[in-house]
This record gives sequence, C-alpha cells and structure tokens, in this order.
Amino acid sequence: MKTVKVLTVGLIALGLTAAANAVSVAKSEKQAEAAVEYRQSLYQLVKSNASPMFGMAKGALPFDTDVMTTNATRLEQLADMMADYLLVDTTQFDVSTDALPSLFTNEADVMAKIADLKDAASGIKAAAMSGNEDLYRKAIGGLGGTCKSCHDDYKD
Ligand code: HEC
Repeated sequence: MKTVKVLTVGLIALGLTAAANAVSVAKSEKQAEAAVEYRQSLYQLVKSNASPMFGMAKGALPFDTDVMTTNATRLEQLADMMADYLLVDTTQFDVSTDALPSLFTNEADVMAKIADLKDAASGIKAAAMSGNEDLYRKAIGGLGGTCKSCHDDYKD
C-alpha cells in the first residue's frame, strides 16, 4: 500500500495522472461505516441502471435503445466515481461489507476492471446505434462480464 501511494505521488509530481485514485484508509469506525454505505449505494445505482438492460438481453423486456443509451451513459459516469468510493480501505474496522481485503491491495487490477466496465458501457451506446439486436445482446453480455470479473475476485 505504501508503495502504491509513493508511486502515485511520484506520478502526480510528474503530471502523469489527473485523478487521485490511490487507495485511502478509513481512520475511524464511523468513517469506515460511511465508506461502506457509500460504496454499496453506488453499486445499487449501478444495479438500477444495468438491470433493465440485463432484462432486455434475456428477452424479459423489449430492447429499448433510448434506455440503453441513457443507462449506459449513467454507468460511464458511475464508473468515473467508482475508484474513489471503492478504494477506501475499511479492513481495520469491524464493518459489514462484502468487499474482500484483496480489493485494497490490487489497485492497478481494480482500476483495469473499472475501465473495462466503462468500455462495456460505451460499447452498449455504440451497439444501440446499430439497429441490430444481436449486437445489443452481445454488448450487454459484455457489461455483465465486467461485473462478474470484479465480483469473482473482490466480492464475497
Ligand atoms: C471493480 C469492481 C467491481 C465492478 C466492476 C462491479 N462491482 Fe459490484 N461490487 C463490488 C464490490 C467490491 C462490492 C461489495 C461492496 C461492499 O459490500 O462494500 C460490490 C457490490 C455490489 C452490489 C451489492 C451492493 C449492496 O447494497 O451491498 C451490487 C448490487 C453490485 N455490486 C452490482 C454490480 C453490477 C450490476 C455491476 C456491473 C454492471 C458491478 N457490480 C460491477 C465490485 C465491483
């Protein structure tokens, strides 16, 4: 963790990174509880925007390219917030979280998974313009793969 911070500070000094995405550490139980609440709330919003599209891909709902475009845009925005809410290390406190401790020691991989989610959301927007339902389904499947990839590694 220390190495990650030092590296990030170095990169900022070099002007190579714009956002401060380094893992931060909750300093009190209260802070840790709030961090978990925000983290889970963010994922509730992710779910709220992704679920209708999963329903479309499964055939439970008709494809609606307006909803696909709007919700994919929101997922891109949520992806932009994800690192800040996700990477608050709450392992020092006895909080009720499904985040595995390894989440806070694999920053580069977590950042890559967040980028994958954002790319998949952009892919849905592109597919929505194609008028091709097979492409819609494939793009939405790609999004689902990014959820699973991170949950498999970092969520209980
Ligand atoms: C980069 C990693 C990552 C990605 C990508 C990701 N998740 Fe998660 N998700 C997590 C972690 C970690 C938790 C556990 C949070 C906690 O309990 O503190 C979580 C929790 C959740 C929860 C439970 C929230 C709660 O109220 O407890 C839902 C729902 C969820 N994710 C949905 C999704 C969906 C849908 C996607 C894809 C569109 C997705 N996630 C993508 C890491 C990720």
